[in-house]
Amino acid sequence: MGDLENHFGDDASVDDETNKEILAFLVKNSAETSTMQASWNFLNSIGNKDIIALSQTDYWKRKHKDIPKEIFENPKVKSISNCKACHTDIEKGLIENENIKDISDFK
Ligand code: HEC
Repeated sequence: MGDLENHFGDDASVDDETNKEILAFLVKNSAETSTMQASWNFLNSIGNKDIIALSQTDYWKRKHKDIPKEIFENPKVKSISNCKACHTDIEKGLIENENIKDISDFK
């Protein structure tokens, strides 16, 4: 939240008040305070490396290594960071196996 002018190549800057609100939300809902297994796995995978994108962790890479690159380029997916395209429950903070879309839909 400290350098939103350079947010993965985009200018995502917001006013001070909004920044404070988002920061508070992020701290409150951070992996450190979560009991979800995936959160633990991500934290362990980050270790003391300087990683700010989940998709750069070894854990994420291991879990998605069998998915062909073209799938992530499919217009319905668009990008690796569009977790929701495949994990339909991710906005509820969940990543349940039964809610992962069949990726053959994206071929
Ligand atoms: C193109 C579809 C796709 C996208 C986009 C995607 N995933 Fe996945 N993800 C999968 C599939 C398929 C699996 C199941 C892999 C397996 O177990 O064989 C998976 C597995 C996972 C798992 C492991 C779940 C478990 O219980 O083992 C996590 C955590 C996860 N994804 C997080 C993410 C996050 C976070 C993002 C966005 C940064 C993301 N994924 C983007 C398809 C996707």
